[in-house]
Amino acid sequence: MRHLLSTKTLSRDEAIQILDVTEDMAATQQREVKKLPTLRGKTVVNLFFEDSTRTRISFEAAAKRLSADVISFATKGSSVSKGESLQDTAQTLEAIGADVIVLRHSMSGAPAVLAESGWISASVLNAGDGTHEHPTQALLDAFTLRRRIHGDASRGRGLDGVRVLIVGDILHSRVARSNLWLLSVLGAEVTLVGPPTLIPFGIEAWPATVSYDLDEAIATVRPDAVMMLRVQRERMNAAFFPSEREYAGLWGLSAARFAALPETAVVMHPGPMNRGFEISSAAADSSRSTVLEQVTAGVSTRMAALYLTATGGAA
Ligand code: NCD
Repeated sequence: MRHLLSTKTLSRDEAIQILDVTEDMAATQQREVKKLPTLRGKTVVNLFFEDSTRTRISFEAAAKRLSADVISFATKGSSVSKGESLQDTAQTLEAIGADVIVLRHSMSGAPAVLAESGWISASVLNAGDGTHEHPTQALLDAFTLRRRIHGDASRGRGLDGVRVLIVGDILHSRVARSNLWLLSVLGAEVTLVGPPTLIPFGIEAWPATVSYDLDEAIATVRPDAVMMLRVQRERMNAAFFPSEREYAGLWGLSAARFAALPETAVVMHPGPMNRGFEISSAAADSSRSTVLEQVTAGVSTRMAALYLTATGGAA
């Protein structure tokens, strides 16, 4: 695999293979010495044009655990704020010796431009581009869910017949898109739930059922997992719902809604959470919440993605 830009282009076999390599990486993270020599001599640059906590630190941890040299570069405080272009920034990084560029950018398609432009020869990993995709997030989510459902028998398996609700600001969510493509290729049944104003136009073409009523979706789908999304105000140029109170009342995973879920259903959230808005503390802090497992899985997932792209491994 040369780049990781999207989950939409992954076949089922490729997706399962990445999840299985993630299992191998996760096993190494149980050891006392977590570091592997795999990427010794390689340089990974984290190039983040948008804010990030989990994605940036877990890419950094992942690269370090694989013994790569890591340069973490937030564009605030750099020459990007002086108007330097993506091309010049990336070529500068390659001139310094970057083998892999992990890119987060507000423009949908920026990682694909970088990978396909011929400006650089480094591998490109998409760490979230606009409202388009966030492939490592979807992979870590699928890994977490597969572990919760299949436990030690996860290897080689998909998520066939697993029912997932993805709830909230679907319109602005790259997490929702990457998850939808990956979950459906793995055989899961996805229902997207949110206010009509936050459901994208043309959704009929997506491999999902759509619902505008969370209580009804919980009652009829009987989900195995509920994935709550943050309302992405920074991407909104208008009012998409009347008030926070109304949004929380209709679309939030309140304590009462959490109690209405099937007893075994897990609660997922990519972070950062807005407690009391899209998710209640009763749900976020319960033993069925996978929020912190997702963060842990993020390190192993990014180790797998860095390893497969930097070494050109299969998948
Ligand atoms: C998400 C993102 O940035 O796309 N966060 C993350 O990477 N875990 C989701 C969000 O910001 O709401």
